[in-house]
Amino acid sequence: MVDTPPEVHNRSDAISAQTLLGEIEFEHVDFYYEDRKPVLTDFTLKVKPGEMIALVGPTGGGKSTIVNLLCRFYEPQSGVIRINGRDYTGYTLESIHNKIGIVLQTPHLFSGTVRENIRYGKLDASDADVEEAAKIAGAHDFICTLERGYDQNVGEGGNLLSVGQKQLISLARAVLAKPELFIMDEATSSVDTLTEALIQKGMEALMKGRTSFVIAHRLSTIRRANRILVIENGRIAEQGTHAELLRKRGHYYSLYTQQFRHELEVQYGVEDVPSKEREEIQEAVAAD
Ligand SMILES: Nc1ncnc2c1ncn2[C@@H]1O[C@H](COP(=O)(O)OP(=O)(O)OP(=O)(O)O)[C@@H](O)[C@H]1O
Ligand SMILES: [Mg+2]
Repeated sequence: MVDTPPEVHNRSDAISAQTLLGEIEFEHVDFYYEDRKPVLTDFTLKVKPGEMIALVGPTGGGKSTIVNLLCRFYEPQSGVIRINGRDYTGYTLESIHNKIGIVLQTPHLFSGTVRENIRYGKLDASDADVEEAAKIAGAHDFICTLERGYDQNVGEGGNLLSVGQKQLISLARAVLAKPELFIMDEATSSVDTLTEALIQKGMEALMKGRTSFVIAHRLSTIRRANRILVIENGRIAEQGTHAELLRKRGHYYSLYTQQFRHELEVQYGVEDVPSKEREEIQEAVAAD
């Protein structure tokens, strides 16, 4: 109890953040959870407005922690996180949280209808706004196949829906809220190919003109990022675009040639990996 770090709270002189659309900067950030085992050490990162950052790397590396700090669910023990050049602990928590859209690996829905769950993104939205957001997010079509459509009850915690469907609803919720900063932890669980394509489309709609951080598992997402960060042991082991990192033949290259090849083979079957993907892997391996 004595060692429990203080809850994140508003400083007495905190001001409201007008926007999160400026530069985001982690400067020499150190962070540990309750047990004081270092998770991030001297972590430094500068993100330009509108950039899409993909975080990849082994389990336990610190990807979720980076995103947790960015959302200010936790604060660094030392070092600074700056938004628009200002230490973000100088802003009120509400003014940060209400400008961030988050879609988690296992999104949180509450029991109630589909419509209510989407409207949670903006409580005064009309039915037409809710449906418009669902269309942009790629959720509308599946919702229409439900017996009661937008009035369908999703069950306790959304348990009557699949993980992919829950992600589509939380994407719609985020579209409705028009966040300035978008954060997504991609589902690792198998989502069917059609739902996956819809999620991709929804994400694209959301990321346009916004800064985004995606903890990415799908190759299609990773490839689209402006910058890929390979996170290992709380540090940036490597960064660059997909092509740059493949050329480096380092961490990303191994991750790509081993894990992603395996994923593609599982997804399509060993014989049926599309030729574009197959050639890319072969080129990467051949040049080794
Ligand atoms: N709430 C917590 N309390 C204590 N330790 C934690 C907590 N959350 C994460 N950790 C530890 O911090 C380290 C980084 O974890 P983190 O969840 O950021 O990794 P990750 O890269 O997101 O992994 P994954 O790919 O499995 O999601 C790990 O050693 C983990 O055990
Ligand atoms: Mg994680």
